[in-house]
Amino acid sequence: MGLKQPFEPPGSPLIHEACQTAYPVQQMVGILFAYLGPKPAPLLPRYETMVRRDGRRSIKVLPIHNNNWLQAQENSVDPVHTYYLHGHMLAQQGLLDSGSHGGGYFYRPIQKYDFELCEEPAWAGIRKIRFYGGDKPEKEVGHPAIFPNILLAPQGTELTLHWRVPLDDEYTYIIWSEFTVSEDGSEVEQRDEDIPVGYIESWKRSDGSVDLTGFPMQDQMAWETQGKIFDRSRELLGVSDRGVVMWRKLLKEQIERVQAGLEPVGVVRDASLNEVIRFTLSAGQRAHTEEVRRRIEQSAAE
Ligand SMILES: [Fe+2]
Repeated sequence: MGLKQPFEPPGSPLIHEACQTAYPVQQMVGILFAYLGPKPAPLLPRYETMVRRDGRRSIKVLPIHNNNWLQAQENSVDPVHTYYLHGHMLAQQGLLDSGSHGGGYFYRPIQKYDFELCEEPAWAGIRKIRFYGGDKPEKEVGHPAIFPNILLAPQGTELTLHWRVPLDDEYTYIIWSEFTVSEDGSEVEQRDEDIPVGYIESWKRSDGSVDLTGFPMQDQMAWETQGKIFDRSRELLGVSDRGVVMWRKLLKEQIERVQAGLEPVGVVRDASLNEVIRFTLSAGQRAHTEEVRRRIEQSAAE
C-alpha cells in the first residue's frame, strides 16, 4: 500500500485496522454530493433546474451562517416575511426596484395566504401560496421548500436551488445553484468545470455594521439574530406560521420513519422512478423575471 505507521514495529497488524471513513460522492451541476447514510447510496434527485439544458448555470457559495440550518429552512415556509424583511426594508432604503431581485414584487399587499403539503414519490415539501392585491393582483403558486434542506426560488432572472448544509448544529454552509433560462430557449453547452463559482466572503462590514441592501443578507440577519439555536420554548406562533408547524411535523414524521428502519421521503434507488422533479411558477413570477431582465439590460446599455 505504500503507507507506513511511525513507531509501530515492522509487520504490525495495526496498519490494517486504521481506516479513514470514506463516503460515496456524485457530481452534478458542478457540485459534489456526498452520501453519508446506509449503503447503497440512493440516486441523486433530478431537479428540473439541474437537468435542463436551455440555460446557463452558475454557483454561489454564501458566507458561513452562524445559525442552525433549520432556522433558514423554517424561514422558507414563511409567506409574509418577504413583505416586511425584504420589500419594506428595501423601500425604507430607497432600493425597492434596484438590484437584481426587484423588491417591488414582494411589496404588494398580501391579502391572504395558504400552504400546501406536497408529497410526491421523489420529493416532499411545502408550497406557500400568496394572494397579492394592489395594482398587480396575483395568485402566486409558491415555489417549494423541499425536504429536508432545500429551497427552490425564482430570483430575478434565475431559478435558484438553495442547499442549507449543517456544518454542525450552530453553523450552516449555503450553496446556490443558479439557472438562467436562455431568452430564445436555445440549449447551452456548458461543462461542469466551466460553471462559474462566486464565493461571497461576508456581508458584514469592517466597522461591525451589516449590509442590509439585499435579500440574502436580510435573511442572514433574521436567522442569526434568533441565536445560534433558536429557543423555541420562547416562541409565539401566529396564523402565518402554519407553514412552520407543517414543516416541523414533516421533519418529525421523517425522523420517526428513519428510526423505525424505513427510508425518508425522496430517497429513490430505482432509475426508472427517478423522474425529473418539475416545478410550477406563476404567471406573475415569470412576468417579474422578464421585468428584471429588461431592467438589467437597460442599465447595462446606459
Ligand atoms: Fe427571505
